[in-house]
Amino acid sequence: MNTKKFARMRHINDIHNGQKSVDKIKDQVKQHPWYLRYHVSPPANWMNDPTGFSYFNDEYHLFYQHYPYDHIWGLMHWAHVKSKDLVHWEHMPIALAPSESYDADGCFSGSAIEIDKKLLLMYTGHVITGPNSDEDLIETQAIAISNDGVVFEKIDENPVIKGLPEGDFHQGHFRDPKIWKYENTYYAIIGSTTKDQTKGQAVLFKSNNLTEWVFVTTVAKAGNNQGTMWECPDLFELNGKHILIVSPQGISPEDVYYHNHHQSGFFIGDFDYDEGRLKNYNAFNLLDYGFDFYAPQTVYDKYGRRILIGWMNMWESEMPTKKFGWAGAMTIPRLLELKDGRLKILPIPELGILRKNEVIYKDIIIKGELSLPKVDGDCIELELELDLKDASLFAIKMRVNEVENEETVLSYDITKGLISLDRNRSGEGVKGIRSAEYELNDNKMKLHIFIDKSSIEIFIGEGEKVMTTRIFPKETSKSILFLAKGKAKMLSISKWDLSI
Ligand code: FRU
Repeated sequence: MNTKKFARMRHINDIHNGQKSVDKIKDQVKQHPWYLRYHVSPPANWMNDPTGFSYFNDEYHLFYQHYPYDHIWGLMHWAHVKSKDLVHWEHMPIALAPSESYDADGCFSGSAIEIDKKLLLMYTGHVITGPNSDEDLIETQAIAISNDGVVFEKIDENPVIKGLPEGDFHQGHFRDPKIWKYENTYYAIIGSTTKDQTKGQAVLFKSNNLTEWVFVTTVAKAGNNQGTMWECPDLFELNGKHILIVSPQGISPEDVYYHNHHQSGFFIGDFDYDEGRLKNYNAFNLLDYGFDFYAPQTVYDKYGRRILIGWMNMWESEMPTKKFGWAGAMTIPRLLELKDGRLKILPIPELGILRKNEVIYKDIIIKGELSLPKVDGDCIELELELDLKDASLFAIKMRVNEVENEETVLSYDITKGLISLDRNRSGEGVKGIRSAEYELNDNKMKLHIFIDKSSIEIFIGEGEKVMTTRIFPKETSKSILFLAKGKAKMLSISKWDLSI
C-alpha cells in the first residue's frame, strides 16, 4: 500500500475507533435528567469549542472539539452535527481525528467554507514537543476537504501555514483559523500572542489557491487588560462595520466584570483590506455576561444573517455531568445585529417551532413574592415585559425547590442599574454571581429566557446583554417565583414548554 493510501486508511480507522467509543455509551448518556433537549451536546464524552460552523448543500454544519474516549479534554477530534433549521440537529460521523505528524497531539479549532461544491475545513494541527505545554508546542494550519460533507480527507500539502514570520509573535501559540473569501482572495484570521506572551493578537494570512498562504499583518492587538493570548478570532462585516470577535485568556477581573476563567468578546471597527488591519475600534465588550460562554463562532447564512454559537461551558469549571459520561454543550444559535452602533444578540426565531402549551398573563402586580399557575418547568421559554417605575428591585427565581433550598436567581437592582445572575443555590457545580450594568428604557424591561435541563440563557432588553449559565439542580426543582421590592408590574408574560 502506498503511503498516501495508508495515511487515509489510518485516518478512517482512527475515526472509526472514536465513533465506536461514543456509540458504546450514548444511549445511556441521553437518559440522564441533565442531558439537554434542544442544545447541541456530545452524544457521549467531551465537547469544547464550536468549529467549522458553515452552510453547505442547504444545511448548517457545525463541528466541535471532541474527545471521544472520555468525558475530559484529551486528544482533540472534530465531531460533526448538521441541521436544516438550526433547531433539529443530526449527529454525523466524526470528521477529523489526529492521524498525521503535524496534528499528532490534536486537531484543534478552526473553520469551514464551501468551495466548488466541496466543504473545506481549516484547522490547527497541534504538536507537543516537550514537557512545558505552554512553551514546547508547534501549531500549524491544515486543510481537509469533503465532497459529500461527511467524509473529510486531509490534503497532501498540509500543513498549509507552517508558522509565523520573524517578529513579535510567539511561534508556538498560533491557532484557530477562521477562513473567508473576499473578492477572489481567501483570508484566514488566526489567534496569537506576542513573543513574551503578554498581549493577545489576531494575525491575518491570505491566499489565492488555499495551499499557499502569505502573512499579511496583525489585525488587532490587546490593549491594557485585554488578554495575553487571543483564541478563536472571527472577523466579519455587519451593517457596514466590522466586528472582531476574540476569546482572550488572561484578563484580570475589573469591578463586576471578567470573573470567568477566560472571556469572549468583540470590538467594533472598520477593517481595511489593503492594510489588513482593524481600524477605529472601540472598547472590548463581552458577548455574554454569565458564567458559561466561550470560543464562539459565527456563520453567514442564506438569509443574510450572522448567527453565533458558543461553547456553553467554561474552562477549569467543574462539570458535574462528567459522572454521567458527558461534558460540554453549545448555546442556542444567536442572531447578531448592529443597531445604532451597538451589537444586539437575540435568540434565532426558528426556536419558535419548539413551543407547546402557551400560557399568557397580562398586567400582574408583584409586591413581595409571587408564583403564577403553570409558569414553571425545566425545559421552557419565557418572555416577560416589566414596568419597574415603582420598584427598587425585581427578581425571577428559576428551577426553585423550596424543600431542597434550590434556586437560580436573576435580579435587577433598579437603583444601582445592575443585573445579576446568582447560582449559589443552583444545585451541584461551581457557585457564584455574575453581574452587568443595564439601563432601563422608559422604566421598562424585557427578558427572554431559555431554560433547558441544565442550562439557562437570558436575553435582556433588545439583546443588549446576554447571560448564560449551566446549572445542576435536582430534577424536581422546577418552580418559578417572581419578587419585587416596591411594586413591579408585569405587563405581560408568556411561557411555553419546549419539546423537540
Ligand atoms: C479554545 C481552545 C482553542 C483550541 C481548542 C483546543 O477553547 O483552547 O484555542 O484550538 O480550545 O481544544
